[in-house]
Amino acid sequence: MSGALRIRVLHGPNLNLLGGREPERYGRVTLSEIDGALVARGQELQVEVVSSQHNGEGALVDAVQEAATLGFDGVLINPAAYTHTSVALRDALLAVGLPTVEVHLTNTHAREEFRHVSLIADVAVARVMGFGDQGYLYGLDGLVRHLRGS
Ligand code: DQA
Repeated sequence: MSGALRIRVLHGPNLNLLGGREPERYGRVTLSEIDGALVARGQELQVEVVSSQHNGEGALVDAVQEAATLGFDGVLINPAAYTHTSVALRDALLAVGLPTVEVHLTNTHAREEFRHVSLIADVAVARVMGFGDQGYLYGLDGLVRHLRGS
């Protein structure tokens, strides 16, 4: 299939609060600033980037399924707390089979032990963590290169 690549960006619970949420940990950049930077980087890479945030696990699962139905080529996701708990999200990613990159603002391995587990790590093409908001851009770059086979 020809045409520009289309990337679905999904943000999990509480990431709508970025900017004011534990700023010493997560920084002061807001989610809409992150989404704006992703769209701008997408334009440079000539890919379409569509983002959304979901606090509910089911809504996140629906968004993964919809990404496939709508013909997106890949998923860039920060599942936030559902990273560590959600079999449903893992199953959704497996079901749709879209190449997925997992992003975290923080290095979850340097935090509480329950954050050391990711139920989607082995389903993802790659993981980016610990680079704050910049990590989303690294993740987008990597996902696009992966999809282009370069
Ligand atoms: C997070 C890490 C998760 O453990 C946490 O629940 C989040 C944010 C991160 O981006 O560092 O909400 O995904």
